[in-house]
Amino acid sequence: MKGILLAGGTGSRLYPLTLVASKHLQAVYDKPMVYYPLTVLMAAGIRDICLITTPQDQARFQTLLGDGSAWGIRLEYRTQEKPTGIAEAFLIAESFIAGSPVALMLGDNIFFAGDAFPRAVRDFQGGATVFAYHVNDPERYGVVEFDEKGRAVSLEEKPAVPKSNFAVPGAYLYDPQVVEIARSLKPSARGELEITDVNKAYLAQGHLQVVRMSRGTVWLDAGTSSSLHEASSYVETIEKRQGMKLGCPEEAALRRGFLSLEAFEALVAAMPNCEYREYLSDLAAEVRRVGLTAA
Ligand code: G1P
Repeated sequence: MKGILLAGGTGSRLYPLTLVASKHLQAVYDKPMVYYPLTVLMAAGIRDICLITTPQDQARFQTLLGDGSAWGIRLEYRTQEKPTGIAEAFLIAESFIAGSPVALMLGDNIFFAGDAFPRAVRDFQGGATVFAYHVNDPERYGVVEFDEKGRAVSLEEKPAVPKSNFAVPGAYLYDPQVVEIARSLKPSARGELEITDVNKAYLAQGHLQVVRMSRGTVWLDAGTSSSLHEASSYVETIEKRQGMKLGCPEEAALRRGFLSLEAFEALVAAMPNCEYREYLSDLAAEVRRVGLTAA
């Protein structure tokens, strides 16, 4: 499966922070926001990834991530000229997708959902797979309604009166048909090609799988000052408690076998002295001692 990471948009809700750097490059505790969704893709074994940014931000992402080879992945860059909708990603990335199944991650969605995403990628057999996550404020999101047998029966984008508390987070899996579906969409009232309309097309065909993320798993969005702050606090709390980092692409590359231990050690040796380097260097020493553990 290939991956698309959508990191476009103006980030107007984070003004004035976003005057100088894209929303997706802002710090979530100790790393840039984009590291988190990128790590989710990598941890699911996806290493061929198209990164979509605004034209003005592309160079900065390239400075940060390069072509991905340092992490054993391949990054291809595309731009979205205007924030005209999530589903446009499939048209922008059509030649990248090239008939392959594809996972789409939104660059401001932060997940710590254990095995949910890797398992969905492993089990994917076509159609579309989306997730459902219980939230307090479903009206801010795409909302999925279930019948009494737990089957998804409707999807609505930001409904004024939500039919359930289950939001659809920004992580989606599609078969290659998604490009044609995206092409057939008309812009919504807010002038966007809506991802919810893509999902509705799969629902109408009977090819939409909705996986409920269990209680205690974490999905945060980091698009407002307050949610950005909450995401940072959350990451700090867990990292301090566990002594393990969240959203660390280097670690995901090592654990998934994208990098040999030697290549990983060389990467770490080139980093400046900092806490991030110390963490990775302790990890390398541990892997030398006991091999890769399941953590
Ligand atoms: C978008 C989607 C929405 C989804 C959300 C997840 O909302 O349109 O369906 O639930 O991402 O973050 P937007 O970012 O456009 O408000």
